[in-house]
Amino acid sequence: MRPTLSDYRHVASGKVRDIYEIDDATLLLVASDRISAYDFILDTPIRDKGRILTAASFFWFDRLGVPNHLAGGPDDARIPAGLVGRSMVVTKLPMVQVECVARGYLTGSGLVDYNATGAVCGVELPAGLGEADKLPAPIFTPATKAAMGDHDENVSFAHVANQVGEELATALRERTLDIYGRGADLAAERGIILADTKFEFGQAPDGSLVLADEVLTPDSSRYWDAATYQPGVVQPSFDKQIVRNWLTGPDSGWDRGSEQQPPALPDDVVERTRARYIEAYERISGLSFDEWFDA
Ligand SMILES: Nc1ncnc2c1ncn2[C@@H]1O[C@H](COP(=O)(O)OP(=O)(O)OP(=O)(O)O)[C@@H](O)[C@H]1O
Ligand SMILES: [Mg+2]
Repeated sequence: MRPTLSDYRHVASGKVRDIYEIDDATLLLVASDRISAYDFILDTPIRDKGRILTAASFFWFDRLGVPNHLAGGPDDARIPAGLVGRSMVVTKLPMVQVECVARGYLTGSGLVDYNATGAVCGVELPAGLGEADKLPAPIFTPATKAAMGDHDENVSFAHVANQVGEELATALRERTLDIYGRGADLAAERGIILADTKFEFGQAPDGSLVLADEVLTPDSSRYWDAATYQPGVVQPSFDKQIVRNWLTGPDSGWDRGSEQQPPALPDDVVERTRARYIEAYERISGLSFDEWFDA
């Protein structure tokens, strides 16, 4: 008999995931079907999104071959009935309080930084770069974890070194760029650009880095379709563009500037978005989502 959620202590909930404690050493990370857009958690879930993102994380943890926090497989017996396929059983680790971002392309807060300073997180870049341009080489652009609801704040390598020590900061940068490189290479083989991504690391008892949290999912990464990539303009997001377009288009009746909760999504927007998430997973992994664990 599988346990039920009430057997575990609820520890926290993020925008998308809920965290429970299985025992002193082990956590259950449950990915919901919640979706965020323009900094709102929408009222309408995207059916299966949590399963798709969990499938993606398991795929990448398997592929990357770096130490990670998984403490069981996708159908581990400690996962409650009904949550198999959207849950990870992980070793509870002391987390390094740095959001480890790697960027291969210039967009978002990186571009804002660059336009203001000519650098991103203190990394000097050549002049003349613009929206969605490929960088000469991927860069490590860490951020500090903001309190719930706030935006993470970009910081320099020196800031991180000051916070966690030079040695650990260097290890974070190396590991982040190494994993980004592997992810980007594999995505490129499948016609997808991994523009940027965020990792979180915990530490093993010996201090070595352990890849934690979710990894290379569409929620933690910007994926673009290489076939339509066109620098100079904001690139459509592989997964969320359908939702964004509908919300800001004429049919939603929503005014982004109003800062009011967006309206519920129509069924066809939900279905098309679900199909996009599945397409992203299947294209990148080469696996069929139909074969993924279902509660
Ligand atoms: N192996 C682990 N041990 C301990 N904590 C972990 C582990 N893996 C991930 N975490 C933490 O679990 C939390 C996951 O929460 P989640 O990402 O859902 O919410 P959040 O980061 O608080 O907010 P957001 O919704 O903005 O991401 C993060 O604080 C992350 O650092
Ligand atoms: Mg998070």
